[in-house]
Amino acid sequence: MQKVKKAVIPAAGLGTRVLPVTKSMPKEMLPIVDKPAIQYIVEEAVAAGIEDILIITNRGKGLLEDHFDRAPELEQHLLKGGKQEAYNDIVNISKLANIFYLRQKETKGLGHAIGCARSFVGNEPFAVLYGDDVIFGEDPVCGQLIRAYEKFGLGVVGVKEVSPEAIVKYSSLKLEPLQDNYFRCTDMIEKPQPGEEFSLYSILGRCVLPPEIFDILGRTSPGAGGEIQLTDAMRTLALRDSMIAVDFVGTRYDMGNKLGILQASVETALKHPEIGQEFRAYLKKLAKTL
Ligand code: UTP
Repeated sequence: MQKVKKAVIPAAGLGTRVLPVTKSMPKEMLPIVDKPAIQYIVEEAVAAGIEDILIITNRGKGLLEDHFDRAPELEQHLLKGGKQEAYNDIVNISKLANIFYLRQKETKGLGHAIGCARSFVGNEPFAVLYGDDVIFGEDPVCGQLIRAYEKFGLGVVGVKEVSPEAIVKYSSLKLEPLQDNYFRCTDMIEKPQPGEEFSLYSILGRCVLPPEIFDILGRTSPGAGGEIQLTDAMRTLALRDSMIAVDFVGTRYDMGNKLGILQASVETALKHPEIGQEFRAYLKKLAKTL
């Protein structure tokens, strides 16, 4: 079984649900207290044993590249000011992994973005971490999925149950229990109309895919919203009985919508070593006035 050593982070979406901030700022760079969302995602991949990461970007996402680069002026400034800890933190960001960038020249959908990664991935299995889904937990979700890939040798999607109101905005999966939190996935649909759902289980932000997905993506026509959907390509694997779903352990925040951004910030701030206590006191006081 080939080890999963590569990951692709699609981050070329337009982020229309969080306008106007995304007019000039990639949503993947939105801060969760003091760290941009994408850094948490890269750290999760690295914690799961990933060595090479391809971030799919597009026009206006240069900030992403700057964040993972060295910053000589800032570094010198911190060193001169005796701020060794801040210096180490800043330098370490640039050493997290081998990070590569590729532009998706047209915003044709998540499936199209993943298709752009073909020459980077080659003939290996690879992880996909959606650039706007931050998932917190002791055991990195990317690693949970890689373990399932190594156990079954099949494509894997990370899933969670969502509300009946939310399922129409996501995907819906047909699942059969296997063991523990593992399911066999035999069908799936992207953005089901009411009544078309298989279940309330939806793919949330992570998968591990075999390289065969690229040929399938090449044959996949535009689907929901006129975009080339990754779900439609993964459906082909599901119909071949080649897809596993893992009901992962972790808390997921959708940085692609306004409420998700606030939830991630508030919950992270409450646990933050520097400001956690003060923020808790502030929140309690504020809550009394609501
Ligand atoms: P989303 O559909 O959530 O992102 O895609 P979006 O298109 O930015 O959302 P709107 O405009 O608010 O509706 C899921 C992931 O796929 C990436 C996004 O950046 C996000 O991480 N994506 C989406 C691409 O890389 N390319 C695309 O063409 C579309």
